[in-house]
Amino acid sequence: MTSQTLREARKYEETAEKNIAKEERPDFHLSSRVGWMNDPNGFSYYNGMYHLFYQYYPYESKWGPMHWGHAVSKDLLHWEYLPAALAPDETYDRDGCFSGSALTLPDGRQLLMYTSVIKERQENDDIRDIQTQSLAVGDGLDYQKYEKNPVLDEKDLPEGASKFDFRDPKVWQNADGTYSCVFGNAMADGDGQVLLYGSKDGFQWEFEKVLVSNNGRFGKMWECPDFFPLDGKWVLLASPTDMLPQGFEYHNGNGSLCLIGAYEEQTKTFHEEHDQAIDYGIDFYASQTTLAPDGRRIMVGWMQNWDTCPLRSPEEPWIGQMSLPRELSIRNGRLYQTPVRELDAMRCNKTVHEKVSFTGTVSLAGVQGRCVDMELTLRAGDANALYQKFAVRFAQNDKYQTSLSFRPRESILKVDRKFSGSRRAIIHQRRSLVNSKDGNLNLRIILDRFSVEVFVNDGEQVLTAAMYTDLSAQGISFFADGMVEMDVIKYDLM
Ligand code: FRU
Repeated sequence: MTSQTLREARKYEETAEKNIAKEERPDFHLSSRVGWMNDPNGFSYYNGMYHLFYQYYPYESKWGPMHWGHAVSKDLLHWEYLPAALAPDETYDRDGCFSGSALTLPDGRQLLMYTSVIKERQENDDIRDIQTQSLAVGDGLDYQKYEKNPVLDEKDLPEGASKFDFRDPKVWQNADGTYSCVFGNAMADGDGQVLLYGSKDGFQWEFEKVLVSNNGRFGKMWECPDFFPLDGKWVLLASPTDMLPQGFEYHNGNGSLCLIGAYEEQTKTFHEEHDQAIDYGIDFYASQTTLAPDGRRIMVGWMQNWDTCPLRSPEEPWIGQMSLPRELSIRNGRLYQTPVRELDAMRCNKTVHEKVSFTGTVSLAGVQGRCVDMELTLRAGDANALYQKFAVRFAQNDKYQTSLSFRPRESILKVDRKFSGSRRAIIHQRRSLVNSKDGNLNLRIILDRFSVEVFVNDGEQVLTAAMYTDLSAQGISFFADGMVEMDVIKYDLM
């Protein structure tokens, strides 16, 4: 039975989306069907399709009582909206169906696990969220909430764990058929930890272990954890709130964290070996991965950040985009990300300019547009004098531009969307330390109307930024202070 609340949301989104023209959305990134979108949820491959759900408030372009929006795709790039999957319609989730994940049950049904939220007045009169965990079972279109919800509440927490910050289940099935789940949690003092739970059937869950403790290292509460094997290691992804920058890492306040290590499955012990940010741009948060049928580990994130929401005006009919789905791998002990290979099939109108030696500003024939895949290979153009600076500017006209600039002497790559049309004085720049020698650098830049994602050195680092620049700004130009030699391979994405 579909509740009144869900029926209303479904009816509303179907009507309201008609007011949004196709061109007013990104072309191949998923955006909110209408109203507000944040985290990706339930990212999964089910019944021959990729399913991507998302934190959703259809009625306004700002955060509100959370629903789950829903879309499906065959190639991770062309998305089709399905009716909203969950609404806050039960006594235990009346204030929101927060983030969660999905798995396929042995009988072929899809299980969604999400955080059910109610607001409760505390003894000191504060009103706080109480966060519990709930299930819904469905067929890829309609989902029935489980009659024994919530399946986990404060009674199931280990000592010292806060019931106010207990959320974002990420479930998976183990080789022996059992299920595991990680949750973000904070201790009473706000310090983050990741809790591991286990289940035989996906319905009854038991606490197993504190998998990782922050101990004050990376921000405070860790939201949206994910944990999976990759290339002989195990990877823990999380989105810590309130981060302090460390060198050129973790500049985003609400940031992204990747821990790589060894995992002893017997004792459920994770030995951390390396930490890094997931994304070095401005807008990336709450990542979630899934396993593709061919074994690729694919990650998608919310292409926004709690600190950067004012970039888009709440007057707009939709707010929130997902990042490009990215294939993950580990090389040289680091997390590498590349755009899903499905994107190659969208490439057309190949334009090549090889060994372009220049100083000052140049434009190149055939190089412009807002849905673009462009590979740049940079070298010093003068063997005796390293250039000072290189820049590529895009979404450009005489009023607007977003730029990516590189200073080889400092090895600093900077994305700057200050002139992208934003009227808000929020963070618009991010500098990142990249690997480069003698002025050599490889960049793959993906533009999709309202975003840029820069894959540096074959995916060793990624810088992501949203930009809501007027679509009349189609220009791309290059700038060099000193002599740069570059190869440009550019495709339109269609
Ligand atoms: C992360 C987050 C999650 C929570 C959701 C609520 O962006 O804060 O921790 O489940 O958003 O919308």
